[in-house]
Amino acid sequence: MAGEMADNVILVGFMGAGKSSVGRILAARLGRCFVETDEMITAAEGRPIPEIFAEKGEAHFRALEDEVVRLLGLKRGDVIATGGGLPCRDGRLEALRAIGTVVWLSGDFEALYERALRGGDRPMLSGKTREQAEALYEARRPFYAKADLAVDTTGLNPDQVAARAAAALAERLTTPPHPALSPSGGEGSSD
Ligand code: S3P
Repeated sequence: MAGEMADNVILVGFMGAGKSSVGRILAARLGRCFVETDEMITAAEGRPIPEIFAEKGEAHFRALEDEVVRLLGLKRGDVIATGGGLPCRDGRLEALRAIGTVVWLSGDFEALYERALRGGDRPMLSGKTREQAEALYEARRPFYAKADLAVDTTGLNPDQVAARAAAALAERLTTPPHPALSPSGGEGSSD
């Protein structure tokens, strides 16, 4: 599978899931480089994300994410933290799975929302009520749910989440394909 050859680990999830902090710790644990899609965008645009939203709007930001997804195809062996909305369009999660193992940092909406509000300027939350933010979360869940693995972050700190993600990734690598899927013993993969 192409994703296994590119061997990246891609973190997805709602704002406040801790993708950046967990990604940094996970990269250090695995001895990999760490990449953030939001950093790629701010570097390319030369200004912070709230300014991009304010001056050019969300549609422009999403078009920049398209280009980022294309560039991610060049990455090998990295840990990649994505912006909360990046996988939430048709075909995006599939494109990410083609370049590595996608890990959803999930959690209770309440906990994610609290963390996201504490964690700085987020244009997708500003001017939104709690109910509107929850509706956004619900609309996004089916996209995140297409990830290869999920780690529930509720009640855990970033070190603990990174440890669980590392364990889930190791288990995925060492678990042989189910015999029923691999009658010849060689080509079994349900993916
Ligand atoms: C966004 C999430 C942000 C950032 C941008 C849009 C979103 O990243 O990409 O503000 O649509 O959820 P975080 O998930 O790191 O906050």
